[in-house]
Amino acid sequence: MDYFTPFSSAGWHQWATERQYADYKFMEVARAADFLCRKVLEIKPGENVVLYCDTGSDMRVVNATAAAIHTLEAIPIIVRFNTQKDIDLPMPKAVRAAILASDVTIEYSACGYVHSPIWYEARQKGIAMVCYVGMNADMMVRTLDPELYYKIEEFKEAYSDALSKAKTGYRITSPAGTDITCKKMSPEEIAERNRRYGIVPGVKRRGGMLVGQGSIPATMKSVNGTIVFDGAIWPPAEIQKIKEPITLKVVNGTVTEISGGFESKILKNWFAHFNDPDAYNLLHISTGFNPGVKRPTGDIVEDERVFGCVEIGIGNSPKPCHTDGIMLDCSVWVDDTLIEDEGIYVEPTLRKLAVEMGMQLYVK
Ligand SMILES: [Fe+2]
Repeated sequence: MDYFTPFSSAGWHQWATERQYADYKFMEVARAADFLCRKVLEIKPGENVVLYCDTGSDMRVVNATAAAIHTLEAIPIIVRFNTQKDIDLPMPKAVRAAILASDVTIEYSACGYVHSPIWYEARQKGIAMVCYVGMNADMMVRTLDPELYYKIEEFKEAYSDALSKAKTGYRITSPAGTDITCKKMSPEEIAERNRRYGIVPGVKRRGGMLVGQGSIPATMKSVNGTIVFDGAIWPPAEIQKIKEPITLKVVNGTVTEISGGFESKILKNWFAHFNDPDAYNLLHISTGFNPGVKRPTGDIVEDERVFGCVEIGIGNSPKPCHTDGIMLDCSVWVDDTLIEDEGIYVEPTLRKLAVEMGMQLYVK
């Protein structure tokens, strides 16, 4: 694939269609599920794989994955329960028991649990935990493309390499008004983060997050400036896809002020209702680069992978107070070097890989 690939090389057919009828892209869904189970998760014969889902789940995705697991002579166990009213609430005890008895667990529920104690407990036990919260058939086809998967992983490595070159830190801006600076994590902080998430450097880990997302290794306490979310935020479910930008002032890694239109008031009240100062603490800064996601849809698992976005996760407490907000078309500096310019990749390796993924409209 070269720079002069026709305009519609990869992308237009992958856009969200919202055609959610029963057999929509059923062959492509089956292929994505097969690729997920064989190549991404490397499921082995005899393994117990729990697919937990709720009444908000897209059962086409759950059933296709279960069929793929069965074909591999592993044991799919579908656990479905009522959709809870908020994220990270305690799970029914039978669901917890199933997860803790599994080799691999895939989250397909519409309501997420990734920051709840069960996830931490399962990871510490060495269970491969996979977060595909709210995955639907259309999203699965766009984001788990066997033809792009390894190139996206290569892009992630290259992005991580570019970020690791920082001597002091990073700056992130966006056309909507984001402007934050932060310091690079120390080796000790990186080791602690890896321990928490069960990451062993150099060892391939099964499970984790959907492909097309990386992490900016920044010390959260060093983040200062203005965040403007203009893509999406979830929770609270009352907002999801953002209509009017929401501005957050951040001082030493803590949100001190929230302003904007109606949605900013909802967000402000959502933070306040926890009555917990830790709800305002930044937890992570992530980068999005899945070529199958070119605009927010309101489903966080894909919104945080919009090509060229930066995501900020806020809320670090045992309470279910974690939220993720998306800033579109970001600029990213590594020290004084610009690697991404308003969503357009300018760093040579990223530029090359983006073109190879069919994203020639997103480079300069
Ligand atoms: Fe997050």
